[in-house]
Amino acid sequence: MATAKVLFLALISLVALQQALINASFASNTKCTWGYDNCQINDDRVKLILNKWSGAAIEGYNQFIYGYIDMRIKLVPGNSAAVVTTYYTSSEVKTKNDDHDEIDFEFLGNLTGGDNYYTLHTNIFVNGVGNREEQFRMSWYDPTSDYHHYTIFWNPYMVVWSVDGNVIRVFRNYNDQGIPFPKYKPQRVYSSIWNADDWACQGGKVKTNWTYQPFVANYLNYQEKSCLYTKHKSVKHCNHPSNWYFNAQYKQLTQAQLNTMNSIRNQYLVYNYCTDTKRFNGNFPPECSKPQY
Ligand SMILES: *[C@@H]1O[C@H](CO)[C@@H](O)[C@H](O)[C@H]1NC(C)=O
Ligand SMILES: *[C@@H]1O[C@H](CO)[C@@H](O)[C@H](O)[C@H]1NC(C)=O
Repeated sequence: MATAKVLFLALISLVALQQALINASFASNTKCTWGYDNCQINDDRVKLILNKWSGAAIEGYNQFIYGYIDMRIKLVPGNSAAVVTTYYTSSEVKTKNDDHDEIDFEFLGNLTGGDNYYTLHTNIFVNGVGNREEQFRMSWYDPTSDYHHYTIFWNPYMVVWSVDGNVIRVFRNYNDQGIPFPKYKPQRVYSSIWNADDWACQGGKVKTNWTYQPFVANYLNYQEKSCLYTKHKSVKHCNHPSNWYFNAQYKQLTQAQLNTMNSIRNQYLVYNYCTDTKRFNGNFPPECSKPQY
């Protein structure tokens, strides 16, 4: 009896340990990995700075399979042409035979005034292959005047990108139909700021204007509710249906979420790989003919 009870308690605490709920503190959950002078990590706030000398990057300590990761970001204001701010999750990238998985938000800066809005770029890599870009014109709010929520939700059914709680994109799991989906590789959270004036602004025509440096992206209140990867057994554990993100409510978007998503996409989606006939020469990736909600 006693042994069974101890075993039972041990099991409970194991389950509890592997469920990470992280609130607010960048200081205890992330570290700077590039541009040490340009990362300012202060409890629940981060400043990532791009100046003439360097950009900056942070990464999370935790590795996880599935979860909810929410970042509040205030993007570089004013002339941010060719400045790219990223927030993404990724598994480890190998230089040889890269087979990494990655879920991306990238914010491509712009000139000011007129129609010079930021571009929100999204992508997903599975087994080292991306090429699934979708871009939005960020004209339904000002991403530089205040903090906005950018959320990655990843469960065994789908990957969901949201802005301020509004879903903008879904990539469903059609693995049973031979379409790759991230399931086994643990990921971490990353964020960075860098100069991409060879391509990012108006196709590379507009360069970074260093008169405006330093370019600063501000972060507030990072939240993560994920299934922690601690050792290989975690792969099985995180794919076990007893986890919260397997619940029926997370299987599919609600009608209200779907309506909002469609409305945002109808108005602001400016590039969708699934409609780029020229690029794929009519041979679209298989997920393009599947419903994504
Ligand atoms: C910047 O604004 C122009 C419109 O002036 C637009 O064509 C472009 O897609 C915007 N975004 C980027 C990143 O260049
Ligand atoms: C950079 O911005 C300054 C100030 O607005 C302007 O005078 C200059 O022409 C800009 N440089 C480039 C390369 O656009």
